[in-house]
Amino acid sequence: MSILARASKDIAKSHLVIRGKCSLSGELKVSGAKNSALVLMTAALLTEESIRIKNVPELTDIEGIVDILLTMGVTINRHSNEIQITADDLHHVELPYELVNGLRASFFCIGPLLARLGKAKIPLPGGCRIGARPVVEHIKGLKALGAFVNVEHGVVTASVPGESRRLKGADIVLDCPSVGATETILMASVLAEGTSTIENAAQEPEVQDLAKMLNKMGAQISGAGGPKITIKGVKKLNGCDYTVIPDRIEAGTFLIAAAITRSSLTVTPLIPEHLSAVLQKLRDCGCKFEPDKQGLKIIPGEITGVDITTQPYPGFPTDLQAPFMALLTTAKGTSIVTEKIYENRLQHVAELQRMGASIRVQGNAAVIQGIPELSAAPVTGGDLRSSAAMVLASMAAKGTSQLRGLDHLDRGYANLEGKLNQVGADIKRHQR
Ligand code: EPZ
Repeated sequence: MSILARASKDIAKSHLVIRGKCSLSGELKVSGAKNSALVLMTAALLTEESIRIKNVPELTDIEGIVDILLTMGVTINRHSNEIQITADDLHHVELPYELVNGLRASFFCIGPLLARLGKAKIPLPGGCRIGARPVVEHIKGLKALGAFVNVEHGVVTASVPGESRRLKGADIVLDCPSVGATETILMASVLAEGTSTIENAAQEPEVQDLAKMLNKMGAQISGAGGPKITIKGVKKLNGCDYTVIPDRIEAGTFLIAAAITRSSLTVTPLIPEHLSAVLQKLRDCGCKFEPDKQGLKIIPGEITGVDITTQPYPGFPTDLQAPFMALLTTAKGTSIVTEKIYENRLQHVAELQRMGASIRVQGNAAVIQGIPELSAAPVTGGDLRSSAAMVLASMAAKGTSQLRGLDHLDRGYANLEGKLNQVGADIKRHQR
């Protein structure tokens, strides 16, 4: 059994015991962005020279991508939060199902493998509990660039025809601003012959981070972070050193932890414009902010209800919908939370109701009637972000809660309980 599988098996049995009514103070340190580090690591496949990625968070998803890269013959050296990746002897182009299943980011390998070797065989990333998560836009983009792509028996087999096995630049318009599809097309087109454009591109900071690293490697990308990206294909990419941006979703989770426990806290580092929609909503519900170090100090006042609708960046991020809903359960007044990105990302409602929250779901919207106080209960996180939401709710609730579903939590938060305990929380991890 792989290290990852063994670790996941143990994690699935463990749970957190979280004492409620805690107040926090001091400084919460934000790690590197999971959703940037994962794609940057696959982008290292685009060159035979070494790529050194710094500020990589310690997460089970990162271990998963490391396992996958190793099966492809990539050399990996690690020193704490730094990973050096050298794909000078890239040979294996078929990813094993048992490693790929459940790690959606492994699909990011398809673009670089096609660009570098002209072929790839990758199991379809499964849907997950939050939605079907198709990869139609990724495949549409690869076909536009000249690849043959066949999807059969749950496996995507792709190849580039012709002597040169080199993709050809194309103009691509996405049906939806998909983060993954934008990143797949970016990585496939950087070594293509000619120029490509992506319209209706995703604008997330993680997409911008990828474009920045690719340009540091010698790519010619312009417009990343806007709705139209232009990529002039080059023949070869070089190695480079690159530092991952701070994780805006972890930073947002920490800000909400301060708000829900009515604590003043400094969260650092964070880049305010990566969180402008979230900061606005926190202001609207009664929080103030002061710049502090490379981050922000949050000062919560009386928390009142606000309405949230998740949107592609720069709108309110779907990944903070569950944590923010936890905050709204004890806000004064009524709030409406509408999830527009995923078809099934309201599972935390049932868990919050177990803690006494007053929530009514109508389609993809939840109507929340604020109550004075949540009460502790045994709860389970159904996905990465709903698990984080339940940690926040438990820290504010009256009494002591137990939280299961840590396999999800550990995918996206590096040492969450350790960081929160350092600022006054009382969270213990029990392995059985
Ligand atoms: C990335 O997923 C993130 N994951 C997700 O974070 C995040 O929620 C999401 O972007 C949106 O911001 C990583 O970066 C590893 P999408 P991705 O393609 O790329 C639909 C977390 O908690 N869609 O932008 O898979 C899709 O069904 C995770 O850290 C199509 O319809 O997101 C979804 O409803 C969860 N067709 C919406 O777009 C397609 O071909 C957003 O998906 C592709 C996507």
